[in-house]
Amino acid sequence: MPAIQSTEAGATPVLALRGISKRFGAVQALTDVDLEIRAGEVVALVGDNGAGKSTLVKTIAGVGPADDGVIEWEGRPVTVDRPHAAQELGIATVYQDLALCDNLDVVGNLFLGREIVRAGVLDEVEMERRARELLSTLSIRIPSVRIPIASLSGGQRQTVAIARSLLGEPKIVILDEPTAALGVEQTAQVLDLVERLRERGLGVILISHNMADVKAVADRVAVLRLGRNNGTFEVASTSQEEIISAITGATDNAVTRRRARSAEAVGATEAAGAAKAAPTTQAAEPAEPAEADKANKPEKEAGA
Ligand SMILES: Nc1ncnc2c1ncn2[C@@H]1O[C@H](COP(=O)(O)OP(=O)(O)O)[C@@H](O)[C@H]1O
Ligand SMILES: [Mg+2]
Repeated sequence: MPAIQSTEAGATPVLALRGISKRFGAVQALTDVDLEIRAGEVVALVGDNGAGKSTLVKTIAGVGPADDGVIEWEGRPVTVDRPHAAQELGIATVYQDLALCDNLDVVGNLFLGREIVRAGVLDEVEMERRARELLSTLSIRIPSVRIPIASLSGGQRQTVAIARSLLGEPKIVILDEPTAALGVEQTAQVLDLVERLRERGLGVILISHNMADVKAVADRVAVLRLGRNNGTFEVASTSQEEIISAITGATDNAVTRRRARSAEAVGATEAAGAAKAAPTTQAAEPAEPAEADKANKPEKEAGA
């Protein structure tokens, strides 16, 4: 069992999911899932294939509303039944396939669907100026905002897609596997940008398979397993192995064995203490630690 650590008390989450459930026919994709994201916090959402990550994101993005549960925005229950509702609240989603247009340049992609028009014509000068400003405040380096997206590296394309999501001035940005297809250097570019989003006070939900990425930028990691919460961990005080065992549900690994041993030691000490404190009324007590110890061993081996 993973340790479930409480999240920081205090600030009201910008976005909170409470008891979210979702079924597709016979498949119960999500069961009673909770998740909280605060301003200036990066929360990694991890889990094996089929764990329900994409389904959960779709409920937040208004693409596939939940059957059950409550979504709270800044402490108040809200209805997110279509993508527009999510955008209006301030939720931006960058999907894995990016949905960039290869034949358009960077400016064209940034302003796709929100073009600036003056006197009935596209105001290319203004869009270009704002594109430069946006990329520069995010320290995104692109050779030129007038080159086609197709000629950029994967990392640059990903940063353009993330920059585009910021034009609606969201408070929460959801990134679905933003580094999945990237090499080391390009991954670093994208993770740098995630850091900058946090500095700007945004809440970020980062879906990732990559534990190195999670350890590098996330503050907390929420694990989904078989459509349910399987632990929320503070990244700084949690090992990669602990996160992985929450993802896989593994019981037989070095981490769980070590934890079981120390729990046994603590249990034995406590029992011995209790026996000493009440020797007359609990005559049978001293025998118990040894009994429990014996009883526990085969159980653990059987669980392996
Ligand atoms: N549109 C759908 N129709 C039927 N089943 C679906 C649909 N979308 C997801 N599922 C099922 O829901 C479960 C969770 O899937 P998903 O959210 O895609 O997981 P993840 O993104 O963590 O890999 C899986 O069993 C998947 O097969
Ligand atoms: Mg998925």
